[in-house]
Amino acid sequence: MKKIIIAIDGYSACGKSTTAKVVANILNYSYIDTGAMYRAVTLYFLENFISLTNPHEVEDALREIDIEFRHNEKAGRSDTYLNGLNVEHKIRQMTVSENVSEVSAISAVRKFLVAQQQKMGKKKGIVMDGRDIGTVVFPEAEVKIFMTADMMIRAKRRQDELLEKGEMVKLEDILDNLKKRDLIDTSRSDSPLRQAENAQVVDTTYITFEEQVEMIIHLVSEKVI
Ligand code: DC
Repeated sequence: MKKIIIAIDGYSACGKSTTAKVVANILNYSYIDTGAMYRAVTLYFLENFISLTNPHEVEDALREIDIEFRHNEKAGRSDTYLNGLNVEHKIRQMTVSENVSEVSAISAVRKFLVAQQQKMGKKKGIVMDGRDIGTVVFPEAEVKIFMTADMMIRAKRRQDELLEKGEMVKLEDILDNLKKRDLIDTSRSDSPLRQAENAQVVDTTYITFEEQVEMIIHLVSEKVI
């Protein structure tokens, strides 16, 4: 069957990655979490005290960064590796969340990661989630989804996710972080988060997870026949 590219964009904590993973599984496609790539760069910058306002420092640091995804058989998911180390847990922590939008607004960082993402999609058969997949990385993607959900629901979902990983964060702090990230992600000058013209909006506030997945699979089936 013909393989296509499925681009899933939207706000933080709308359920993009959980949905994308299941869709990829059903279709036997690869799943690429581009947010994890921006998070890995952020972690590197934080650990190495890179000044975000110094372009030379940023360029030099990017040359030292190698990001890959490796399948974790035991956990049944793909883990993010930064320079050979598994950073899957570290990149989800609040310190990274608090700095990732600022880092992802830097054009040099975007150029560096977008080139890698485009390479990963060359053979098609991928589900990629992020903020600029349908607009910048793969404007030619056959299926484009724009996910959104009520702010309070997003914050509660993120809180539950963090709790599962053993990190207890106040709802207020999560709300603050999501609002700040929405603002930076939608107002940055390079590739701001916006709905691609031909994207299908999926509001996950009142629909079940199964319904979200079904909607996307239905859109895919219309394209591959
Ligand atoms: O999907 P996430 O919350 O893990 O993404 C973390 C941050 O990375 C998000 O605040 C914005 C940025 N990002 C981006 O700018 N472009 C992407 N394609 C993916 C993520």
